[in-house]
Amino acid sequence: MRADIEKVLIDEEQLQTRVREMAQQLTREYAGKDPVFVGVLKGVVMFFGDIVKQIDTPCQIDFMWISSYQGTNSTGGMQVRRDVSVDIEGRHVVILEDIFDTGNSLEFTYHHLLSKKPASLKICTLLDKPERRNPSVTVKPDYTGFVIPNEFVVGYGLDYNEHYRNLPYVGILKPEIYG
Ligand code: IMP
Ligand code: MG
Repeated sequence: MRADIEKVLIDEEQLQTRVREMAQQLTREYAGKDPVFVGVLKGVVMFFGDIVKQIDTPCQIDFMWISSYQGTNSTGGMQVRRDVSVDIEGRHVVILEDIFDTGNSLEFTYHHLLSKKPASLKICTLLDKPERRNPSVTVKPDYTGFVIPNEFVVGYGLDYNEHYRNLPYVGILKPEIYG
């Protein structure tokens, strides 16, 4: 598995340091607000677990699972496979994501959650790949862990064909793996 990685882009120590900083910022900004952290499955799992463990104020956690219909890139082609179970009306909600790429999935997720009338709604992403942004996407990350170049990355929750999620770092896949 590790032999398939061209280069480690963000190692475990860099991830932990940055995630701790982000958790401290969220703790400061959401103290006393009893926020709801909504993770978008599955890529967010490692980031989600690491960051919420270090958020030092009462909060709740929940998850969403969305998927896109095959063969489309448009935001209209997304569906909710698993919705939040906490009632978020009037709550302070932070969406946690692994990566903001074209932005299509977060555009969809954001508006889906906004329709439930939260008191506030923000986006926190571990990775941002701004070069890939779909120009028609209107949402943007409020909290970003790392801005990365336009490379396909795996590990720390991110997959290629559902593999490599368990790598403890974020790495760039060798081009020959793409086939
Ligand atoms: P979007 O293009 O911003 O809608 O991102 C959709 C999803 O594509 C993300 O949530 C990731 O699951 C996946 N994705 C985007 N870029 C990468 C990558 O470099 N590696 C692995 N998954 C990615
Ligand atoms: Mg994802």
